[in-house]
Amino acid sequence: MGEKLYEGKAKVVYATTEKPDEVLMVFKDEATAFDGKKRGTIADKGVRNAAISAVLFRYLQDHGIPGHFLEQVDERTLRVRRVKIIPLEVVVRNIAAGSFSRRLGWPEGQLLVEPLVEFFYKDDALGDPLVTEDHIRLLGLATADEINRLKELALAVNRLLQDFWRERGIVLVDFKLEFGKTETGEILLADEISPDTCRLWDAETGEKLDKDRFRRDLGRVEEAYAEVLRRARSAPGQAK
Ligand code: TMP
Ligand code: ASP
Repeated sequence: MGEKLYEGKAKVVYATTEKPDEVLMVFKDEATAFDGKKRGTIADKGVRNAAISAVLFRYLQDHGIPGHFLEQVDERTLRVRRVKIIPLEVVVRNIAAGSFSRRLGWPEGQLLVEPLVEFFYKDDALGDPLVTEDHIRLLGLATADEINRLKELALAVNRLLQDFWRERGIVLVDFKLEFGKTETGEILLADEISPDTCRLWDAETGEKLDKDRFRRDLGRVEEAYAEVLRRARSAPGQAK
């Protein structure tokens, strides 16, 4: 492992000793919510999220999504291509929940007529505010063409992940993606995709199988992450 490049709330990123264009992402058990106001530890979360992310990135990349994932190195560590993260959280929603429900008064669980893409400016000090496409261009975060590309990729990821989870008895409510740029300007899907960054509901019971169990003190948090990993690894139609 090379020098530590960045430490976030859920992961640490290290340089690799041999390849300047690759980095290692190490997943931690620490969990935060509400801009770090709530803190805790979810036992084995790092192990589960690294494995779930590896499965999902492999699946997405096999289906034509350009992504940063290279390989899983050990139970908490993924080797990925080095990118410069675009400071936007790209959220896709299929069903009303979370901040969408709070902001617009739609009850959680209400189906949206079509998938919705939202952008949030990644800035902890500002509390990651919702931004419009005009804000994004004005702030110089991305060009109009790049914004269109981010939306196109986010919706393609949504279709693929909806299929993946439907075949494993899970409803994909919403999720957050991050993208990065390579040295040559190529946009790659980056960061992680896990129960920390998705809302996943059991298709039969509606049970929440994601970080909302931690955010809302619902209990059985570890069990939910373990169940999502079990289903991610199961063959289509065989999750139950
Ligand atoms: P939200 O409803 O709180 O805006 O969350 C939308 C989705 O984004 C949800 O699946 C959880 C995920 N998310 C993150 O990955 N990181 C965050 O910091 C937040 C607020 C949400
Ligand atoms: N991880 C984010 C934070 O610590 C928010 C969240 O996932 O709810 O603020």
